[in-house]
Amino acid sequence: MIELQNVTLRYGEREILNEVSLVIEDNQIKAVLGPSGVGKSTILKLILGLIKPNSGRILIDGTDITTMKESQLYPIRRKMGIVFQGNALFDSMSISQNLGFFLRENLNIPEEEVERKVREQITFAGLEGYEDSLPENLSGGMKKRVAIGRALIFNPKMILFDEPTAGLDPVSSKKILNLIGALRKKNDLGAVLVTHIIDDVFMVADSVAVLYKGRIIFDDVTSKLHDANHPFIRSILSDKILEQ
Ligand SMILES: Nc1ncnc2c1ncn2[C@@H]1O[C@H](COP(=O)(O)OP(=O)(O)O)[C@@H](O)[C@H]1O
Ligand SMILES: [Mg+2]
Repeated sequence: MIELQNVTLRYGEREILNEVSLVIEDNQIKAVLGPSGVGKSTILKLILGLIKPNSGRILIDGTDITTMKESQLYPIRRKMGIVFQGNALFDSMSISQNLGFFLRENLNIPEEEVERKVREQITFAGLEGYEDSLPENLSGGMKKRVAIGRALIFNPKMILFDEPTAGLDPVSSKKILNLIGALRKKNDLGAVLVTHIIDDVFMVADSVAVLYKGRIIFDDVTSKLHDANHPFIRSILSDKILEQ
């Protein structure tokens, strides 16, 4: 469904991505693993059409988005939910208002339908009793679950996670990863999981691409990562967490 073909991306003089090619199939969880600053969030921005590559193409369901105008991108973006690293919740809105916000803003659907969808996400994310709370009163793991619920509310086919476990304690991280795994089973959803934490990959990803110094140095099913010879991959397998 999502395909990057020979994508090169520079910020000014600095080359971040060098001829990166990636395929992300529907109903699969694909991890993109790499150290901080390597260009993982940049890949998500390219997939959403928020930035354009210097060369190469990005295809969503076979459609080239690299030449599209902003207005043409809206229906494409609606196929994908995104969970930002910092969650991007609205601080002054309750959890229910956060969940319903984009439905109310973007779609002309009856209020009862909005409320039904919000309740569905409250239940799925295990947030019963917190409907009227503000984000600041929730733990990091709960805020992440709200962000996931909000990303799911348009029924996307694919969900993009930017470092979903960064900053969470091990128990909360595990809950979030279980939720990501459950999404695929329950809703047949695909996911791109961008992370610098190798345990995330082993817990939920079907396949993994490793990004290092602007290039993909490994791209295969997760279980094969153990057999990779690249020194960088050997080092992350022994150290577990990638250094800055
Ligand atoms: N808008 C921008 N302008 C210039 N440099 C940027 C911009 N966004 C990100 N960068 C730089 O590009 C590199 C890759 O960024 P990013 O994709 O955020 O990395 P990651 O998500 O893997 O940590 C980093 O060195 C970052 O500082
Ligand atoms: Mg990032």
